[in-house]
Amino acid sequence: MTIAPEQTGLTVRPVAGHIGADVTGIDLAGPLDTTTVEQLTAALHRYKVIFFRGQELDHAAQIRFGRTFGELTYAHPHDEAPPEGHPEIFTIDPERYKQRYGDEAVNAQRRRKYSYVAGWHTDVTAAVNPPAVSVLRAEVVPEIGGDTTWTNLVAAYEGLSAPIRSFVDGLRAEHRYGGDEAPKGDTAYARRINDNLLVSVHPVVRVHPVTGQRALFVNPGFTSHIVDVEPRESRAILDLLYAEITRPEYTVRFRWEPGSVAVWDNRATAHLAPGDLAHLDVRRTLHRVTVIGDRPVGPDGFSSEIVAGRPFTADHAVVVD
Ligand code: SIN
Repeated sequence: MTIAPEQTGLTVRPVAGHIGADVTGIDLAGPLDTTTVEQLTAALHRYKVIFFRGQELDHAAQIRFGRTFGELTYAHPHDEAPPEGHPEIFTIDPERYKQRYGDEAVNAQRRRKYSYVAGWHTDVTAAVNPPAVSVLRAEVVPEIGGDTTWTNLVAAYEGLSAPIRSFVDGLRAEHRYGGDEAPKGDTAYARRINDNLLVSVHPVVRVHPVTGQRALFVNPGFTSHIVDVEPRESRAILDLLYAEITRPEYTVRFRWEPGSVAVWDNRATAHLAPGDLAHLDVRRTLHRVTVIGDRPVGPDGFSSEIVAGRPFTADHAVVVD
């Protein structure tokens, strides 16, 4: 099915059975009228991630476009060096990461990514108010590989049987950087995380504040454990839920080109950065902005709680050693 609203020229074309749509007929660098913004927002809530191609955005234009969806956060809770004059921009580039933290941290991340589901995450769920929306723009991409995959956490919840849905409806989970493998030791990376500790307890099932849909709100990148149960029970429950959220039928995979932009509803999706580039000598540079989020609320009314740190907002200060 293709939606082609007459008034704006915007076309929204779904690209997979449960998630994702291509949006054409729009210049994201230009001013967007109210009708267009409403249509984009409706497409985002319906398809969870929307894709644009051939856009000419620089940092300032990406920030302007990101504000279409709400006030932006600081670049990242652990980033002390966003591009000059653009504190909202978080640059995703393995080279930058390597220069900052060295091979050791890069290899540790890589090992986690090659475990069966460990690279899947929803952005910054260590915060009590994870970003509501993320906007990712590709600047440099390799000729082969480097795709990103998203999954629909509402479809994953709805795919569970009724008794399991009502069981998980009442659960809560702790989220922190690294999930159940929080960085330890005296490396620069571990210090950066541990000196700016961000830990929260979220409902395992989140009710979307706009659509009212229920989503499975756990991810291996950040979830450390289910609270108030035995460790072995937590492991078994999370294994079940991770198997569900990573089922291929709930996913969509996107092939980047320079000028591609992806916008996702971070309250209803998880995503997987590519794991197929480590052995190739290629560059990949993308820039992300994130919209300040609200505290997740569960079906029983439980609202997320801070264990360490503070809400992730525009002025997130970073302790640098
Ligand atoms: C992200 O996790 O926001 C970036 C995903 C990617 O690098 O593909």
